[in-house]
Amino acid sequence: MAAGSFGDEASTARAPGFAKRVLVTGGAGFIASHVVVSLVEKYPNYMVINLDKLDYCASLKNLEIISEKQNYKFIQGDICEPSFIKALFDTEKIDVVLHFAAQTYVDLSFWRKLEFNYVNVYGTYVLVGAAYEANVEKFIYVSTDEVYGGSCDKEFDESSPKQPTNPYAASKAAAECFVQYYWEKYQFPVVITRCSNVYGPHQFPEKVIPKFISLLQQNRKCCIHGLGLQRRNFLYASDVAEAFLTVMKKGHPGEIYNIGTNFEMSITQLAKELIHLIKNTSSEAETEYWMDYVKDRPTNDLGYPMDSEKMHSLGWRPKVSWNEGIKKTIEWYQENFHNWKNAEKALEPFPVAEESV
Ligand SMILES: NC(=O)c1ccc[n+]([C@@H]2O[C@H](COP(=O)([O-])OP(=O)(O)OC[C@H]3O[C@@H](n4cnc5c(N)ncnc54)[C@H](O)[C@@H]3O)[C@@H](O)[C@H]2O)c1
Repeated sequence: MAAGSFGDEASTARAPGFAKRVLVTGGAGFIASHVVVSLVEKYPNYMVINLDKLDYCASLKNLEIISEKQNYKFIQGDICEPSFIKALFDTEKIDVVLHFAAQTYVDLSFWRKLEFNYVNVYGTYVLVGAAYEANVEKFIYVSTDEVYGGSCDKEFDESSPKQPTNPYAASKAAAECFVQYYWEKYQFPVVITRCSNVYGPHQFPEKVIPKFISLLQQNRKCCIHGLGLQRRNFLYASDVAEAFLTVMKKGHPGEIYNIGTNFEMSITQLAKELIHLIKNTSSEAETEYWMDYVKDRPTNDLGYPMDSEKMHSLGWRPKVSWNEGIKKTIEWYQENFHNWKNAEKALEPFPVAEESV
């Protein structure tokens, strides 16, 4: 078997009854719920264990389609509780970890630096340490393109330096360092991914695409931070789920993989596209009417262009076109906006939060 890949032989001693036991953290959130659904459906011989605290942005509705399957189990719990995490590894006999759980709202991170550090850095430290002690065969840490800091043209590859410019990105970069330490010191088989912006169903509407869609569906204006010139690369959720399954199967220990796309647009352009599709207009004056420019974030990177050649060499490429993906996403929010009890609050231009350290 190639280094870093693993087979599907049924019933190993470690995972009786199942070929593998896969722990996904944060599986009731946006991206990981798509990954959990894909894993459960595509690998009936794997037991998929979803560990999630059920924070404000989570919804078990994201998992309804697989919740009764024999190869799926949900456990509510916190990655920041060492004794609980140790017991979970002891009892569940985990083979593979896909670690998504995190505080993810960049705008909130400026106000809640300590909380972001606690969950994203300390939580990852607890999890990777317990996974090492339990001798799991692969630990995948889900990081972000934001660790690179901003660029408008020069593409980042996996060897580019980390230069985070907001507290969320800084916490993700710091957590990466802990994960890498376990590879450097113990050759514990960790893999790190850095992903572009993801869009699609299941995303809490605090993030830009579901926020603009939901505002327009409620006849409210898109709130654009600053001049809206910052550019983002957008990947559809099912393509990203496929990328994580590829990394799980073929990602090499100790490696970092950019999961990106060349498809990008500015936030102003994004608002115009959504207005065109939801308000059914191409009139310039009418389009302008639905755009509201608000103050900018304290820092707002210009863009994160990335080279994803390493992922391509594993056989992954995005397949879903923007036109197809955004139409499905718009339809989903029309029906599902109220899946979260606090969704309405998420539509404010900025989080309503008290400053903490
Ligand atoms: N959304 C994106 O565009 C994007 C891009 C690149 C990387 N990422 C990374 O992907 C991962 C998932 O992002 P997302 O946007 O799907 O997140 P999300 O905010 O939708 O979901 C995060 C999930 O983690 C859970 N969680 C939070 N703290 C926890 C804790 N202490 N213990 C257990 N569970 C906890 C939440 O309940 C939630 O279900 C994150 O690590 C994020 O940094 C996201």
